[in-house]
Amino acid sequence: MNTKRLTPHDVEEAARVIASGGLLGIPTETVYGLGANGLDPDAVKAIFEAKGRPQDNPLILHVPDESWLERYCGAIPAAAHTLADRFWPGPLTMILPCKKAGDGTNIVPAAVTAGLDTVGMRCPDCAVTRAVIAAAGVPVAAPSGNTSGRPSPTSAAAMLEDMEGKIDAILDDGPCSVGVESTIIDLTVTPPRLLRPGGVTLEELEDALGEVAVDEAVRRLMAPGEQPKAPGMKYRHYAPRAPVTVVKGDADMTAGYIVARMGEKSGVICFDEFRGYFRGHIVESIGPVADQAQQARRIFEALRAFDHLEVTDIWAQSPGDEGIGLAVTNRLNKAAGFHIIEL
Ligand code: TXA
Ligand code: MG
Repeated sequence: MNTKRLTPHDVEEAARVIASGGLLGIPTETVYGLGANGLDPDAVKAIFEAKGRPQDNPLILHVPDESWLERYCGAIPAAAHTLADRFWPGPLTMILPCKKAGDGTNIVPAAVTAGLDTVGMRCPDCAVTRAVIAAAGVPVAAPSGNTSGRPSPTSAAAMLEDMEGKIDAILDDGPCSVGVESTIIDLTVTPPRLLRPGGVTLEELEDALGEVAVDEAVRRLMAPGEQPKAPGMKYRHYAPRAPVTVVKGDADMTAGYIVARMGEKSGVICFDEFRGYFRGHIVESIGPVADQAQQARRIFEALRAFDHLEVTDIWAQSPGDEGIGLAVTNRLNKAAGFHIIEL
């Protein structure tokens, strides 16, 4: 198949790809997604094939506005409206109960939910994608547009590295402004539970809701047999081909620690201020120490870059855990298989 390039002027053509059961690369503020009609089980199955994604890992539904919640979700808690009013459109996915049809079955196909009674709902902060969904008239199921296990794509070019020839078209709306996937919060439990940190921060969620629990899978590796609440959190993820070691602590100390231990062919992910420490090595810097938004925008490109470079291993300076830093450290830690050295 030839993957067609579309621009933001091609909303109607993009909507036709979705409505006719095809696969469409969609821009969002977080990462590019691999979209299909979320009510068409065959189209949804094609997403899993293109990504090589395990069948037990559910997809989230993308909608153009909050009013679509009622179509696919039942028993919607007040917290969902509180969060949608405050953060939608934006990088927040809410896990909600599925709506039941008259015969008691879920309205959302099991191909999307992996058979769960809950569904993830997201309204992306990307006007062209919301227009495509509204024009298609169906919710768009979309995981991140990478091959399963690889870093998520933050540009159309990065998505095409993985999906050229596997999808009907991709709509290029430039690089993603957030750069890490949406925050996922489970609103079917009390207190609400953060399943994946992202662009909407834990602090912002606590400010809106009060108490928010943090799922264990956010901060540590799940033991074999343990079940994280977001099935996707149990898989090795975001991983470049070379093994990654994350070093956590004061930035001067982590830079010094890495310099003292790195090998001749080691690569480094560091803050801009420390590039000079690693002369003679392959270095991907992700922004100044203090600029966590930039670190979020650049982390996946940095991880992807190493797949085209000859390195034996990768050392990374870890950002802090505050604000969107929690999402960046989570992605780095997962890329490292939680191989973390704390200074
Ligand atoms: O920013 C994003 O969320 C991107 C863009 C494209 O919207 N999408 C994305 O989708 O990251 P994906 O499939 O790569 O990650 C969705 C995560 C997976 O870890 C999945 O296991 C979890 O959401 N998930 C989906 N439905 C769920 C449910 N009903 N309960 C718990 N976790 C769920
Ligand atoms: Mg993903």
